Amino acid sequence: MAKSKSVYVCQNCGAESPKWIGHCPACGEWNSYREEIVSSTPPSGISRDITRRKPELLSGIEVNENDRITSGISETDRILGGGMVKGSLILMGGEPGIGKSTLALQIALATQGRTVLYVSGEESEGQVKLRAGRLEGRNERCFIFNETDLDSVLTQTEAIKPELLIIDSIQTLSSSLLESSAGSVTQVRECAARMLRYAKESGVPVILIGHITKDGTLAGPKVLEHIVDVVLQFEGDGNYVFRILRPVKNRFGSTAEIGIFEMGPKGLREVTDPSELFIRRDRDKASGVTIAATVDGVRPFLIETQSLVSSAVYGTPQRSSTGFDTRRLNMLLAVLEKRAGFRLGTRDVFLNIAGGLKVSDPAIDLAVVAAVLSSNLDIPVDHHIALAAEVSLSGEIRPVARLEQRITEAARMGFSEIVISGFHRDTREVPGLKISKVYKIEGLVRLLFS
Ligand code: TYD
Ligand code: MG
Repeated sequence: MAKSKSVYVCQNCGAESPKWIGHCPACGEWNSYREEIVSSTPPSGISRDITRRKPELLSGIEVNENDRITSGISETDRILGGGMVKGSLILMGGEPGIGKSTLALQIALATQGRTVLYVSGEESEGQVKLRAGRLEGRNERCFIFNETDLDSVLTQTEAIKPELLIIDSIQTLSSSLLESSAGSVTQVRECAARMLRYAKESGVPVILIGHITKDGTLAGPKVLEHIVDVVLQFEGDGNYVFRILRPVKNRFGSTAEIGIFEMGPKGLREVTDPSELFIRRDRDKASGVTIAATVDGVRPFLIETQSLVSSAVYGTPQRSSTGFDTRRLNMLLAVLEKRAGFRLGTRDVFLNIAGGLKVSDPAIDLAVVAAVLSSNLDIPVDHHIALAAEVSLSGEIRPVARLEQRITEAARMGFSEIVISGFHRDTREVPGLKISKVYKIEGLVRLLFS
């Protein structure tokens, strides 16, 4: 009979302490220690499996680059670096309702004839069936298992011998060896370690779905992110249909790729041409709207930036932005005030990035500034002009990375002009696209509004 003892575990980093402490010495988090009961039987994590294994000479190790299996969804394959590596552990995190279960089920259904075990700790078999009925793929060899016990799941993997295992979610899974509740750091760590061992021994790729806490980090300890081979983040605004699948860590590929999806009545659809979606061609000549040529990771797309500047109704003017950092907006407004003499201090400024997307690419600065100026002056900007540059505190228009990709994308989308920083050298001309260079805010004003 195993003896139980209780320890206090930091829910943020997994550090342990025999008594409760308010401040974690390991990760610096406050008030993160919770009491967890642990059995004195050591958990059967991967670390004990040491006797059989020996080091191998690097030159003698044989690997097969093609040891990947397709997820059946090309956007997912692409961001994984060409499919799922056999025996890899993939963690997919995201806010509730963003579409994690939907994407996982679509992957399970995408390849006809592949044996998949989809373990759902959150939804019953019936619920999963209902959802599957709405999605497009069909797979006769897809098993659904409503279970939360780790050992039971592992027993079934012996019986079914799946080619892909999906766990929805790691926080609902628990090992009966440990007495702490499902979702606690000890449980999450143990379950992930057992899954890792299963994946490595069987060569079956395992997708773990993980919840995200309020502050946007993956629930459970940081160790979870260290254990797994790939961390994918599913992002998006629940009020909009666009979703971005972003690799935050990938041991087998680049983290610069992103996958773009659209949530519809038949589940998630891949968006192969994002620029088509994020800009509207039929819009009227309205002031306050500009197009930014942005790049996310390595993927260029054009996106609409909308601004509204109006007289402040209250004493303090409002500054609000969606999809763009408000502090950065405030900084750009201060630059406009100081360097271009615009009195925005008595004006409300609202900024919106189309599609509910969050853009952190600094190259959107110029489009933001142009949209604010356009709304303030009430002069529309020609909607065949794209903009791509960073704006510095001194009001200088700064060069940005991956300019060539932005130019090519603007040309492909039929734009007639792109405004970039004058500090770029040797820009390659593209037929049909005029490249305008500006050095200062004043230059931008002259170019667009005079
Ligand atoms: P879900 O995959 O359950 O999210 P998660 O597992 O990340 O919590 O997605 C749920 C949302 O997706 C839900 O609000 C409804 C929407 N949805 C659709 O719009 N179309 C569909 O075909 C499906 C299956 C879901
Ligand atoms: Mg779910």
